[in-house]
Amino acid sequence: MESTRSRLIKLLSENKMSYISGQALSEQLGISRNAIWKHMKDLESDGYHIDAKRSQGYRIVSFPDKVSSNTIRWGLETKWMGHHIIHKEATPSTQIIGHEAARDNAPDGTIIIAEEQTAGRGRMKKNWFSDKEGLWATLLLRPPIPPNKASELTLLTAVALRKALHQLTGLPIGIKWPNDLLIGDKKLCGILTEMQGEQDRINYVLIGIGLNVNQVEASWDASIRDIATSLKRESGNSWDKIKIVQTILKHFENTYEMYLNYGFKAIKSEWEEHAFKIDENIKIKTFHEEWTGRFLGITDEGALIVESAEGSPVTLYSAEITW
Ligand code: BTN
Repeated sequence: MESTRSRLIKLLSENKMSYISGQALSEQLGISRNAIWKHMKDLESDGYHIDAKRSQGYRIVSFPDKVSSNTIRWGLETKWMGHHIIHKEATPSTQIIGHEAARDNAPDGTIIIAEEQTAGRGRMKKNWFSDKEGLWATLLLRPPIPPNKASELTLLTAVALRKALHQLTGLPIGIKWPNDLLIGDKKLCGILTEMQGEQDRINYVLIGIGLNVNQVEASWDASIRDIATSLKRESGNSWDKIKIVQTILKHFENTYEMYLNYGFKAIKSEWEEHAFKIDENIKIKTFHEEWTGRFLGITDEGALIVESAEGSPVTLYSAEITW
């Protein structure tokens, strides 16, 4: 059950600009006015800045800058995305928490976020380096689409993430099919989509987002130092993870709603506009072969279209691409 403290912060966050009287808070939370006053003192000592006016009541002026469910909620401008937040200081993987939450009926749009992962998972069973400087989150969705369309969610996530991060940082972020965000040829962010469903319906989808935020070169060991980058490494500045999460959630909600209303076609041109190596040669590695072709774009369903050496377009649903 949600704690009184969380409910108190939620009530104060919902009334960002106005004061709520001690009486109203005490009635809504079912605790004495004296207990409310004690909670306010605790919040202040945790870094919340509270404005208390004798005749009007209480108002939160600012939150501490540490990531928590409350600080994410404060200033979150979405209609439904991220309204249920599960925050962990450390966890093996937010994907594991996501599966548990989904089985416990967590609502559509739940976000699971961790400061640190001790067994972060990447695609193809690779480990995912997840120190305290990054943003490690999983979005839980219950999309009304057939299972064969789940891969489109990865592509729309890349579009939403790129837009959010470009808006915040102005950095030249590109998309690499199907699930990476790059700056130059270095990886900034990876997306891991996992699905649980039956043959013709999805029960839920987990979209894992691994974003390098404030790492510096020395944060990574030598094996990934040359292939990974972070917002800090590219810009020289440290970035506020709370603001980043809120912006991502906002852009994700917009892009996802557009997708549900109009299909992947509505997102495709934005994906292609920011895709790396469009009209250039790329190397394609599939289960049984490796070849080079010209990257023509993606289909209305998000599959890769590459021109073969013979000049004919080939459509690929799964492959690794490099250059
Ligand atoms: C990739 O291989 O490119 C995908 C990496 C996805 C990493 C994220 S971090 C948050 C979520 N939890 C995990 O264990 N993995 C994903």
